[in-house]
Amino acid sequence: MQPNASERDPYNGLTSLHPTLPPAAYWDAEAYRRDLDAIWYRSWLMVCRESDIAEPLAFRTVRIASQEIVVLRDETGALRAFHNTCRHRGSQLFQESAGRLKARLLTCPYHAWSYSLRGDLVRVPSKSLPEGFDKADYPLYRVALSLWRGFVFINLAEEPEDSAESSFDRGSGDLSNWPLETLVTGHRLTKVMNCNWKIFWENFNECLHCPGVHKDLSRLVPIYGRGLMARHDDPEWARHADNDAPEFSGRLRVGAETWSKDGHVHGPVFPGLTPAERAAGQTYATSLPSMFIVGHVDYMRTVRLAPLGPEQTELTAEWLFAPDALGKTDIDNIVAFGTQVLEEDAAICEVNQKGLRSMRHEAGVLMPEEYDLRRFHDWVRERHAALKTPSADSAR
Ligand code: FES
Ligand SMILES: [Fe+2]
Repeated sequence: MQPNASERDPYNGLTSLHPTLPPAAYWDAEAYRRDLDAIWYRSWLMVCRESDIAEPLAFRTVRIASQEIVVLRDETGALRAFHNTCRHRGSQLFQESAGRLKARLLTCPYHAWSYSLRGDLVRVPSKSLPEGFDKADYPLYRVALSLWRGFVFINLAEEPEDSAESSFDRGSGDLSNWPLETLVTGHRLTKVMNCNWKIFWENFNECLHCPGVHKDLSRLVPIYGRGLMARHDDPEWARHADNDAPEFSGRLRVGAETWSKDGHVHGPVFPGLTPAERAAGQTYATSLPSMFIVGHVDYMRTVRLAPLGPEQTELTAEWLFAPDALGKTDIDNIVAFGTQVLEEDAAICEVNQKGLRSMRHEAGVLMPEEYDLRRFHDWVRERHAALKTPSADSAR
Protein backbone atom coordinates (compact mmCIF):
# COMPACT_ATOMS: atom_id res chain seq x y z
CA MET A 1 0.00 0.00 0.00
CA GLN A 2 3.00 2.25 0.24
CA PRO A 3 5.39 2.91 -2.61
CA ASN A 4 8.55 2.22 -0.66
CA ALA A 5 9.67 -1.12 -2.10
CA SER A 6 13.30 -1.30 -3.18
CA GLU A 7 14.13 -1.05 -6.85
CA ARG A 8 15.19 -4.69 -6.89
CA ASP A 9 11.79 -5.99 -5.83
CA PRO A 10 9.99 -7.98 -8.48
CA TYR A 11 6.67 -7.17 -10.05
CA ASN A 12 3.92 -7.17 -7.42
CA GLY A 13 1.04 -8.29 -9.61
CA LEU A 14 -0.62 -11.69 -9.66
CA THR A 15 0.38 -13.81 -12.62
CA SER A 16 -1.87 -16.82 -12.01
CA LEU A 17 -5.61 -17.19 -11.60
CA HIS A 18 -7.06 -16.80 -8.10
CA PRO A 19 -10.74 -16.95 -7.17
CA THR A 20 -12.19 -14.68 -4.50
CA LEU A 21 -13.83 -15.99 -1.37
CA PRO A 22 -17.27 -17.52 -2.03
CA PRO A 23 -20.06 -14.91 -1.93
CA ALA A 24 -21.73 -16.45 1.13
CA ALA A 25 -18.63 -15.41 3.09
CA TYR A 26 -20.01 -11.88 2.86
CA TRP A 27 -23.65 -12.37 3.92
CA ASP A 28 -24.29 -15.79 5.44
CA ALA A 29 -24.99 -15.77 9.20
CA GLU A 30 -22.95 -18.91 9.82
CA ALA A 31 -19.98 -17.55 7.84
CA TYR A 32 -20.19 -14.36 9.92
CA ARG A 33 -20.16 -16.37 13.15
CA ARG A 34 -17.08 -18.23 11.93
CA ASP A 35 -15.37 -14.91 11.12
CA LEU A 36 -16.11 -13.73 14.64
CA ASP A 37 -14.79 -16.93 16.25
CA ALA A 38 -11.72 -17.26 14.03
CA ILE A 39 -10.77 -13.61 13.69
CA TRP A 40 -12.60 -10.93 15.68
CA TYR A 41 -12.75 -12.81 18.97
CA ARG A 42 -9.05 -13.69 18.92
CA SER A 43 -7.25 -10.73 17.37
CA TRP A 44 -5.85 -7.56 18.88
CA LEU A 45 -8.46 -4.90 18.19
CA MET A 46 -7.96 -1.17 18.46
CA VAL A 47 -10.77 0.33 20.53
CA CYS A 48 -9.74 3.92 21.32
CA ARG A 49 -6.90 6.29 22.16
CA GLU A 50 -5.36 6.25 25.62
CA SER A 51 -6.25 9.93 25.83
CA ASP A 52 -9.94 9.04 25.42
CA ILE A 53 -9.70 7.56 28.94
CA ALA A 54 -7.18 10.05 30.28
CA GLU A 55 -8.26 10.50 33.92
CA PRO A 56 -8.54 7.91 36.69
CA LEU A 57 -12.10 6.50 36.84
CA ALA A 58 -12.81 7.43 33.20
CA PHE A 59 -14.41 4.64 31.16
CA ARG A 60 -15.68 3.72 27.70
CA THR A 61 -17.81 0.88 26.49
CA VAL A 62 -17.11 -0.62 23.08
CA ARG A 63 -19.00 -3.18 21.05
CA ILE A 64 -17.36 -5.89 18.95
CA ALA A 65 -20.22 -7.70 17.20
CA SER A 66 -22.35 -9.04 20.10
CA GLN A 67 -19.68 -8.48 22.75
CA GLU A 68 -19.76 -5.39 24.93
CA ILE A 69 -16.54 -4.46 26.68
CA VAL A 70 -15.82 -1.74 29.21
CA VAL A 71 -12.38 -0.15 29.19
CA LEU A 72 -11.51 1.98 32.23
CA ARG A 73 -8.64 3.67 33.99
CA ASP A 74 -8.41 2.56 37.60
CA GLU A 75 -7.47 4.72 40.58
CA THR A 76 -3.76 3.93 40.08
CA GLY A 77 -3.83 5.05 36.44
CA ALA A 78 -3.75 1.53 34.96
CA LEU A 79 -6.05 0.70 32.05
CA ARG A 80 -8.26 -2.36 32.42
CA ALA A 81 -10.89 -4.05 30.30
CA PHE A 82 -13.80 -6.30 31.27
CA HIS A 83 -16.85 -7.79 29.69
CA ASN A 84 -19.73 -5.45 30.53
CA THR A 85 -21.50 -8.26 32.38
CA CYS A 86 -22.17 -8.90 36.06
CA ARG A 87 -21.15 -12.29 37.49
CA HIS A 88 -24.39 -12.60 39.51
CA ARG A 89 -27.06 -13.05 36.87
CA GLY A 90 -25.38 -11.48 33.92
CA SER A 91 -26.80 -7.97 33.95
CA GLN A 92 -25.14 -5.25 31.94
CA LEU A 93 -22.97 -3.15 34.25
CA PHE A 94 -22.52 0.11 32.32
CA GLN A 95 -25.28 1.66 30.28
CA GLU A 96 -23.41 4.76 29.09
CA SER A 97 -20.94 4.64 26.21
CA ALA A 98 -18.44 6.88 28.05
CA GLY A 99 -18.13 8.76 31.32
CA ARG A 100 -16.47 8.91 34.69
CA LEU A 101 -17.20 6.67 37.67
CA LYS A 102 -18.35 8.42 40.80
CA ALA A 103 -16.68 5.88 43.10
CA ARG A 104 -13.80 3.42 43.09
CA LEU A 105 -16.29 0.62 42.76
CA LEU A 106 -18.29 -0.82 39.89
CA THR A 107 -21.76 -1.49 41.19
CA CYS A 108 -24.23 -3.53 39.21
CA PRO A 109 -27.53 -1.67 38.73
CA TYR A 110 -29.57 -4.83 39.35
CA HIS A 111 -28.76 -6.24 42.82
CA ALA A 112 -25.77 -4.06 43.67
CA TRP A 113 -22.91 -6.53 43.55
CA SER A 114 -19.83 -4.32 43.65
CA TYR A 115 -16.45 -4.88 42.08
CA SER A 116 -13.12 -3.13 42.59
CA LEU A 117 -11.67 -1.39 39.54
CA ARG A 118 -9.33 -4.40 39.24
CA GLY A 119 -12.43 -6.50 38.67
CA ASP A 120 -12.54 -8.32 42.03
CA LEU A 121 -15.95 -8.92 43.57
CA VAL A 122 -15.85 -7.07 46.90
CA ARG A 123 -19.45 -6.70 48.05
CA VAL A 124 -22.56 -8.86 47.85
CA PRO A 125 -25.55 -7.34 49.65
CA SER A 126 -27.46 -10.61 50.41
CA LYS A 127 -28.30 -11.11 54.07
CA SER A 128 -26.50 -14.43 54.06
CA LEU A 129 -24.42 -16.33 51.55
CA PRO A 130 -24.85 -19.90 50.38
CA GLU A 131 -22.45 -22.48 51.69
CA GLY A 132 -19.39 -22.77 49.50
CA PHE A 133 -19.79 -19.32 47.96
CA ASP A 134 -16.48 -17.52 47.69
CA LYS A 135 -16.30 -13.99 46.27
CA ALA A 136 -12.89 -14.82 44.82
CA ASP A 137 -14.61 -17.20 42.40
CA TYR A 138 -16.64 -14.40 40.81
CA PRO A 139 -14.40 -11.62 39.50
CA LEU A 140 -15.46 -9.72 36.39
CA TYR A 141 -14.56 -11.42 33.13
CA ARG A 142 -11.20 -9.81 32.38
CA VAL A 143 -10.22 -8.88 28.84
CA ALA A 144 -6.59 -8.66 27.68
CA LEU A 145 -5.40 -5.15 26.93
CA SER A 146 -2.29 -3.95 25.15
CA LEU A 147 -1.05 -0.44 24.36
CA TRP A 148 0.61 0.62 21.14
CA ARG A 149 1.79 4.19 20.69
CA GLY A 150 -1.15 5.88 22.37
CA PHE A 151 -3.77 3.39 21.16
CA VAL A 152 -5.67 0.93 23.33
CA PHE A 153 -6.08 -2.56 21.90
CA ILE A 154 -8.07 -5.41 23.44
CA ASN A 155 -8.17 -9.12 22.68
CA LEU A 156 -11.19 -11.26 23.55
CA ALA A 157 -9.20 -14.51 23.57
CA GLU A 158 -8.74 -15.74 27.13
CA GLU A 159 -5.01 -16.20 26.60
CA PRO A 160 -4.03 -14.12 23.59
CA GLU A 161 -0.71 -14.50 21.89
CA ASP A 162 1.73 -11.63 21.51
CA SER A 163 0.71 -8.00 21.80
CA ALA A 164 -0.91 -5.21 19.81
CA GLU A 165 2.42 -4.40 18.16
CA SER A 166 2.67 -7.90 16.69
CA SER A 167 -0.71 -7.45 15.00
CA PHE A 168 0.61 -4.97 12.43
CA ASP A 169 1.00 -6.18 8.89
CA ARG A 170 4.63 -6.85 8.03
CA GLY A 171 4.21 -4.68 4.94
CA SER A 172 3.29 -1.70 7.09
CA GLY A 173 5.22 1.52 6.67
CA ASP A 174 7.49 2.73 9.44
CA LEU A 175 5.68 5.40 11.47
CA SER A 176 8.35 5.80 14.13
CA ASN A 177 9.13 9.40 13.10
CA TRP A 178 5.51 10.47 13.59
CA PRO A 179 4.85 11.57 17.22
CA LEU A 180 1.82 9.32 17.47
CA GLU A 181 1.67 9.10 21.27
CA THR A 182 1.13 12.81 21.72
CA LEU A 183 -1.41 13.47 18.98
CA VAL A 184 -4.92 14.65 19.77
CA THR A 185 -8.15 14.08 17.88
CA GLY A 186 -9.20 17.04 15.74
CA HIS A 187 -12.20 15.38 14.12
CA ARG A 188 -14.07 12.10 14.38
CA LEU A 189 -16.46 10.55 11.86
CA THR A 190 -18.61 7.51 12.66
CA LYS A 191 -20.56 5.76 9.98
CA VAL A 192 -22.45 2.50 9.54
CA MET A 193 -21.66 0.85 6.22
CA ASN A 194 -24.07 -1.71 4.83
CA CYS A 195 -21.40 -4.20 3.90
CA ASN A 196 -19.50 -7.09 5.37
CA TRP A 197 -16.26 -6.06 7.10
CA LYS A 198 -14.18 -8.02 4.54
CA ILE A 199 -15.59 -5.92 1.69
CA PHE A 200 -14.07 -2.83 3.29
CA TRP A 201 -10.64 -4.44 3.55
CA GLU A 202 -10.75 -5.78 0.00
CA ASN A 203 -11.52 -2.31 -1.28
CA PHE A 204 -8.73 -0.91 0.89
CA ASN A 205 -6.30 -3.39 -0.63
CA GLU A 206 -6.53 -2.29 -4.24
CA CYS A 207 -6.62 0.89 -6.27
CA LEU A 208 -8.10 -0.60 -9.39
CA HIS A 209 -11.26 1.26 -8.36
CA CYS A 210 -9.47 4.58 -7.83
CA PRO A 211 -9.75 6.12 -11.32
CA GLY A 212 -13.52 5.56 -11.38
CA VAL A 213 -14.43 6.03 -7.73
CA HIS A 214 -11.93 8.61 -6.46
CA LYS A 215 -11.55 11.29 -9.13
CA ASP A 216 -10.05 13.93 -6.81
CA LEU A 217 -7.79 11.47 -4.99
CA SER A 218 -6.57 10.17 -8.33
CA ARG A 219 -5.54 13.71 -9.30
CA LEU A 220 -3.72 14.18 -5.98
CA VAL A 221 -1.95 10.79 -6.11
CA PRO A 222 -1.36 10.24 -9.82
CA ILE A 223 -0.30 6.59 -9.51
CA TYR A 224 -3.78 5.88 -8.08
CA GLY A 225 -5.18 7.41 -11.25
CA ARG A 226 -3.41 4.58 -13.10
CA GLY A 227 -5.25 2.02 -10.93
CA LEU A 228 -2.03 1.16 -9.09
CA MET A 229 -0.85 1.55 -5.49
CA ALA A 230 2.90 1.39 -5.97
CA ARG A 231 5.66 1.48 -8.57
CA HIS A 232 6.05 -2.29 -8.66
CA ASP A 233 2.37 -2.87 -9.42
CA ASP A 234 3.14 -1.98 -13.04
CA PRO A 235 4.28 -4.98 -15.16
CA GLU A 236 6.44 -2.46 -17.05
CA TRP A 237 7.94 -1.00 -13.89
CA ALA A 238 11.55 -1.71 -14.91
CA ARG A 239 11.21 0.60 -17.91
CA HIS A 240 10.38 3.47 -15.54
CA ALA A 241 12.63 2.41 -12.67
CA ASP A 242 14.52 5.70 -12.64
CA ASN A 243 11.52 7.91 -13.30
CA ASP A 244 10.50 9.76 -10.16
CA ALA A 245 7.47 11.43 -11.70
CA PRO A 246 4.47 11.02 -9.34
CA GLU A 247 2.60 8.65 -11.67
CA PHE A 248 5.49 6.16 -11.27
CA SER A 249 6.85 6.91 -7.80
CA GLY A 250 3.50 7.09 -5.99
CA ARG A 251 4.21 10.57 -4.65
CA LEU A 252 1.66 13.37 -4.59
CA ARG A 253 1.18 15.48 -7.73
CA VAL A 254 3.84 18.13 -8.22
CA GLY A 255 3.25 21.05 -5.86
CA ALA A 256 1.00 19.10 -3.46
CA GLU A 257 2.08 18.54 0.14
CA THR A 258 -0.64 16.57 1.88
CA TRP A 259 -4.06 14.96 1.57
CA SER A 260 -6.36 18.01 1.67
CA LYS A 261 -8.90 19.58 -0.69
CA ASP A 262 -6.30 21.83 -2.28
CA GLY A 263 -3.30 19.57 -1.67
CA HIS A 264 -1.62 22.06 0.67
CA VAL A 265 -0.79 22.00 4.35
CA HIS A 266 -2.76 24.45 6.46
CA GLY A 267 -0.70 24.41 9.62
CA PRO A 268 2.64 23.21 11.00
CA VAL A 269 4.19 19.99 9.71
CA PHE A 270 5.73 17.25 11.88
CA PRO A 271 9.36 18.24 12.44
CA GLY A 272 10.86 14.75 12.76
CA LEU A 273 10.10 13.35 9.30
CA THR A 274 12.87 12.48 6.85
CA PRO A 275 12.89 14.05 3.38
CA ALA A 276 11.76 10.67 1.98
CA GLU A 277 8.85 10.52 4.44
CA ARG A 278 7.82 14.06 3.57
CA ALA A 279 8.04 13.25 -0.14
CA ALA A 280 6.11 9.98 0.10
CA GLY A 281 2.77 11.76 0.56
CA GLN A 282 1.21 8.92 2.56
CA THR A 283 2.60 6.15 4.77
CA TYR A 284 0.25 3.33 5.81
CA ALA A 285 0.28 0.84 8.67
CA THR A 286 -2.40 -1.83 9.04
CA SER A 287 -3.53 -4.00 11.92
CA LEU A 288 -6.10 -6.51 10.71
CA PRO A 289 -8.96 -6.78 11.28
CA SER A 290 -9.65 -3.59 13.20
CA MET A 291 -7.66 -0.62 11.90
CA PHE A 292 -5.31 1.18 9.60
CA ILE A 293 -3.44 4.40 10.14
CA VAL A 294 -1.94 6.71 7.58
CA GLY A 295 0.67 9.37 8.20
CA HIS A 296 0.85 12.60 6.23
CA VAL A 297 3.26 15.48 6.78
CA ASP A 298 0.88 17.50 8.96
CA TYR A 299 -1.61 15.00 10.43
CA MET A 300 -2.47 11.32 10.75
CA ARG A 301 -5.74 9.55 10.14
CA THR A 302 -6.99 6.30 11.63
CA VAL A 303 -9.88 4.17 10.48
CA ARG A 304 -11.30 1.67 12.94
CA LEU A 305 -13.78 -1.05 12.02
CA ALA A 306 -16.20 -3.04 14.16
CA PRO A 307 -18.60 -5.63 12.74
CA LEU A 308 -22.26 -5.07 13.57
CA GLY A 309 -23.66 -7.98 11.57
CA PRO A 310 -22.97 -10.06 8.44
CA GLU A 311 -23.80 -7.09 6.23
CA GLN A 312 -23.14 -4.16 8.53
CA THR A 313 -19.88 -2.63 9.71
CA GLU A 314 -19.25 0.44 11.81
CA LEU A 315 -16.42 2.70 10.70
CA THR A 316 -14.83 5.34 12.92
CA ALA A 317 -12.30 7.69 11.37
CA GLU A 318 -10.20 10.08 13.42
CA TRP A 319 -7.96 12.90 12.26
CA LEU A 320 -5.01 13.29 14.64
CA PHE A 321 -2.89 16.43 15.05
CA ALA A 322 -0.06 17.66 17.23
CA PRO A 323 -1.70 19.46 20.19
CA ASP A 324 -0.09 22.81 19.35
CA ALA A 325 -0.98 22.45 15.66
CA LEU A 326 -4.67 21.99 16.23
CA GLY A 327 -5.47 25.63 16.94
CA LYS A 328 -3.26 26.78 14.06
CA THR A 329 -4.54 24.41 11.37
CA ASP A 330 -7.47 24.84 9.03
CA ILE A 331 -8.66 21.31 9.57
CA ASP A 332 -11.80 21.76 7.45
CA ASN A 333 -9.76 21.57 4.25
CA ILE A 334 -8.17 18.32 5.48
CA VAL A 335 -11.28 16.72 6.96
CA ALA A 336 -13.37 17.49 3.87
CA PHE A 337 -10.94 15.63 1.63
CA GLY A 338 -10.60 12.54 3.80
CA THR A 339 -14.36 12.43 4.37
CA GLN A 340 -14.97 12.54 0.63
CA VAL A 341 -12.60 9.61 0.03
CA LEU A 342 -14.17 7.58 2.86
CA GLU A 343 -17.69 8.30 1.64
CA GLU A 344 -16.71 7.24 -1.87
CA ASP A 345 -15.24 4.02 -0.53
CA ALA A 346 -18.21 3.30 1.75
CA ALA A 347 -20.68 3.87 -1.10
CA ILE A 348 -18.87 1.54 -3.50
CA CYS A 349 -18.47 -1.10 -0.77
CA GLU A 350 -22.26 -1.07 -0.35
CA VAL A 351 -22.69 -1.47 -4.11
CA ASN A 352 -20.29 -4.44 -4.05
CA GLN A 353 -22.25 -6.00 -1.18
CA LYS A 354 -25.57 -5.73 -3.03
CA GLY A 355 -24.36 -7.72 -6.02
CA LEU A 356 -23.13 -10.69 -4.03
CA ARG A 357 -26.55 -12.32 -3.60
CA SER A 358 -26.84 -13.60 -7.16
CA MET A 359 -27.56 -17.34 -7.14
CA ARG A 360 -25.29 -17.68 -10.18
CA HIS A 361 -22.25 -16.03 -8.58
CA GLU A 362 -20.04 -18.76 -7.12
CA ALA A 363 -16.84 -16.77 -6.86
CA GLY A 364 -15.15 -13.78 -8.43
CA VAL A 365 -11.65 -13.69 -9.88
CA LEU A 366 -8.70 -11.48 -9.00
CA MET A 367 -6.85 -9.26 -11.43
CA PRO A 368 -3.06 -8.73 -11.19
CA GLU A 369 -3.46 -5.39 -9.36
CA GLU A 370 -5.40 -7.21 -6.63
CA TYR A 371 -2.38 -9.04 -5.21
CA ASP A 372 -3.05 -7.64 -1.74
CA LEU A 373 -6.59 -9.08 -1.84
CA ARG A 374 -5.04 -12.47 -2.33
CA ARG A 375 -2.88 -11.91 0.76
CA PHE A 376 -5.96 -10.80 2.66
CA HIS A 377 -7.96 -13.84 1.49
CA ASP A 378 -5.10 -16.14 2.46
CA TRP A 379 -4.98 -14.51 5.88
CA VAL A 380 -8.73 -15.08 6.34
CA ARG A 381 -8.43 -18.70 5.18
CA GLU A 382 -5.47 -19.33 7.49
CA ARG A 383 -7.30 -17.90 10.47
CA HIS A 384 -10.30 -20.14 9.75
CA ALA A 385 -8.06 -23.18 9.29
CA ALA A 386 -6.26 -22.43 12.58
CA LEU A 387 -9.58 -22.44 14.41
CA LYS A 388 -10.51 -25.84 12.97
CA THR A 389 -7.20 -27.38 14.05
CA PRO A 390 -6.30 -25.68 17.33
CA SER A 391 -3.66 -28.30 18.14
CA ALA A 392 -1.89 -28.08 14.78
CA ASP A 393 0.95 -25.95 16.16
CA SER A 394 1.59 -28.04 19.22
CA ALA A 395 1.48 -31.28 17.18
CA ARG A 396 4.28 -30.14 14.91
S1 FES B 1 -27.12 -9.23 38.06
FE1 FES B 1 -25.65 -7.92 38.89
S2 FES B 1 -26.07 -7.88 40.96
FE2 FES B 1 -27.56 -9.18 40.15
FE1 LIG C 1 -10.85 3.61 -2.29
